[in-house]
Amino acid sequence: MKHLISMADMTHDEIIEVLDMADDLKEKRLRGKVTDLLKNRSLGMIFEKSSTRTRVSFEVAMCDLGGHALYLNANDMQLGRGETVGDTSEVLSRYLYGLIARVYSHDTVKQLAEHSRVPVINALSDHEHPCQILADLLTIREYKDRLKDLKYVWVGDGNNVCNSAILGCALVDMEIVVACPPGYEPDADVVEQARELGGKVTIMNDPAEAVVDADILYADVWVSMGDEAERDKRLNDLGPYQINNKLVELAKPDVIVMHCLPAHRGEEISAEVMDGPHSVVFDQAENRMHAQKALLLKLMA
Ligand code: CP
Ligand code: NVA
Repeated sequence: MKHLISMADMTHDEIIEVLDMADDLKEKRLRGKVTDLLKNRSLGMIFEKSSTRTRVSFEVAMCDLGGHALYLNANDMQLGRGETVGDTSEVLSRYLYGLIARVYSHDTVKQLAEHSRVPVINALSDHEHPCQILADLLTIREYKDRLKDLKYVWVGDGNNVCNSAILGCALVDMEIVVACPPGYEPDADVVEQARELGGKVTIMNDPAEAVVDADILYADVWVSMGDEAERDKRLNDLGPYQINNKLVELAKPDVIVMHCLPAHRGEEISAEVMDGPHSVVFDQAENRMHAQKALLLKLMA
């Protein structure tokens, strides 16, 4: 793996290696041990869209590793005035040891990688969010002690995070069921790719049927960044896909409820579930930092 653009850029063994490194780094941070393994190395962070977790977790990760992170708002760069993505990448990769990018079009992050001499990490595009899934797998392993042979049920919009979840589940032998309204299915190419990797992927419409025997329930926003113009239609179509107590009761008694955050309580997840005993959402958020540290080390050290 040189870049992480899609979850499928990683093999099963690379995922496990990164999760094991993340466990180790997490434990060292708790003990206050110095892990300045990226001393004097700089990471560029291009953002076309808003972020709380991704921006801060990457920045703190670089600080903990003894390196430096530069927040680059795409609007403040010459990118916003017509410099090409390719030229930007050629130039930045002569200064930096790595680059992360949160972009509207998946093609932008692919172009950055094509023109870069240093590793490029997709920090969310309209098509995927692999960093989120690494943290999620770390969290699942912490709660369930394994990844294999679990049932992961995605409820709601088959969006960018869902695409990466489908690929991630296939790579670690976890079953995934997506319950979504017609027209909100995950990308067909992603589903095909996951099945080619040996993944067990089921797409269905009925959330109550999907969640039976679930070990993991997963929610994400109904209106992703870039989808704002469709807000009313989405809220209407996705209304029956809320993760609430009624749905949680149909899953396994020890089901964990996940959400990549930011959450909209009362839309994709009820406040009771979000703040209830099954929710692991803030552990997930914390694990973004530990998983990304491991990823940065793997790609940049
Ligand atoms: N989950 C996630 O990527 O959060 P941010 O949008 O806050 O970075
Ligand atoms: N699907 C959401 C995820 C945010 C982290 C979005 O793209 O806005």
